[in-house]
Amino acid sequence: MTTLDPAEINNSSILVTGGAGFIGSAFVRYLINNTNCRVINVDKLTYAGNLESLAEVWSNPGHIFRQIDICDRASLDRVLNEHQPSAIVHLAAESHVDRSIHGPAEFIHTNILGTYNLLEAARNYWENLTFEQQERFRFLHVSTDEVYGSLGMEGAFREDSPYRPNSPYAASKASSDHLVRAWHHTYGMPVLVTNCSNNFGPYQFPEKFIPLMVLNAIQGKTLPVYGQGENIRDWLYVQDHARALLAVLVRGESGRVYNIGGGCEKRNIDVVREICNILEELVPIEGNNNLSNNYSSLIKFVSDRPGHDLRYAIDNTRITGELCWHPQESFRSGLEKTIRWYLENPEWVSRVRSGEYRQWLETNYASRDMNL
Ligand code: NAD
Ligand code: TYD
Repeated sequence: MTTLDPAEINNSSILVTGGAGFIGSAFVRYLINNTNCRVINVDKLTYAGNLESLAEVWSNPGHIFRQIDICDRASLDRVLNEHQPSAIVHLAAESHVDRSIHGPAEFIHTNILGTYNLLEAARNYWENLTFEQQERFRFLHVSTDEVYGSLGMEGAFREDSPYRPNSPYAASKASSDHLVRAWHHTYGMPVLVTNCSNNFGPYQFPEKFIPLMVLNAIQGKTLPVYGQGENIRDWLYVQDHARALLAVLVRGESGRVYNIGGGCEKRNIDVVREICNILEELVPIEGNNNLSNNYSSLIKFVSDRPGHDLRYAIDNTRITGELCWHPQESFRSGLEKTIRWYLENPEWVSRVRSGEYRQWLETNYASRDMNL
């Protein structure tokens, strides 16, 4: 069992979990806009799920949304049987490290038990397919580079780097990676695993570093940098991640792991300074009533995150060499696009910040059958 024929992705059905989240919605938009496949979007709609991120594809007949918790086995069985997908792309997760530190329970529940539950539903479904369908089926598990732990100032994570997860979030994702690997090894289910670096881009929930800094800066609020801002992350524009996931799904070899990274390492403090510089150009201080001084004067070093990983870096040789995937966006160009998007979408931001986006579904799409 090796790779899929790229043509097979067209006219097939792909079940995406977590498709109302930041990366999931980017992937769903990318699939709908660039392929002819049907997308069955399964999402519980936690605080991080936002159907407004799907407005662009909502009326497309190729997009079907179902509000389902991946811990609910009966609903998963139903949706698999009803839509007969040829692939599952699993993004549903609790994803924010700080939340995992303050309350790990949901992370254990969704990321570990939920993934186990989805794997079992997928296995049951897969075992009842014909031999040819079984060969073509893929379970793509979307994971993080944080499973590998923290690097010193040298080196980069490879696919064979040892697992050393440090935060409850990273440990829960590491557990789910191991489960997926075991379902391949033991039951022969065709799986792919991706471990990606930090994403940024439009529609990211503003608890995450980049949107938090952008939105706070626009409003003249403090920019809270943990510790001394020396921690390093490898940043990737979200659409490049979506392109990478499709490349892995279509051309990846079953049973194989692919690291995905932008080759773009930045210290946190440098990211914040770059955001401030771009804002100085796009919204000069004179045009911003919330400010009396320049944006970087808002930077404040605050208490460090417990167990804060120093550095992440990705060796992306496998995906670039074997699958010919390369990021298209530079950090600067992606950051400019991201900042412009937040500036141009103040209603999205205010609905997210007020919690109003939770009602948006009923107001806008009350008449659609969504299995709510
Ligand atoms: P997100 O928090 O923005 O979205 C997660 C989505 O999953 C939400 O729509 C939420 O409603 C849904 N969800 C949560 N629990 C669920 C459950 N029990 N059942 C069904 N749906 C549920 O996350 P994201 O940043 O888009 O990340 C998506 C995936 O990519 C995650 O698996 C994450 O670990 C991984 N990842 C994220 C990054 C990053 O920088 N954000 C980097 C690498 C990998
Ligand atoms: P985050 O977006 O939470 O991603 P992760 O922890 O998964 O890498 O944070 C990115 C980096 O930014 C991380 O080193 C922590 C730091 N950070 C701050 O300095 N201040 C903040 O307010 C936040 C949310 C993060």
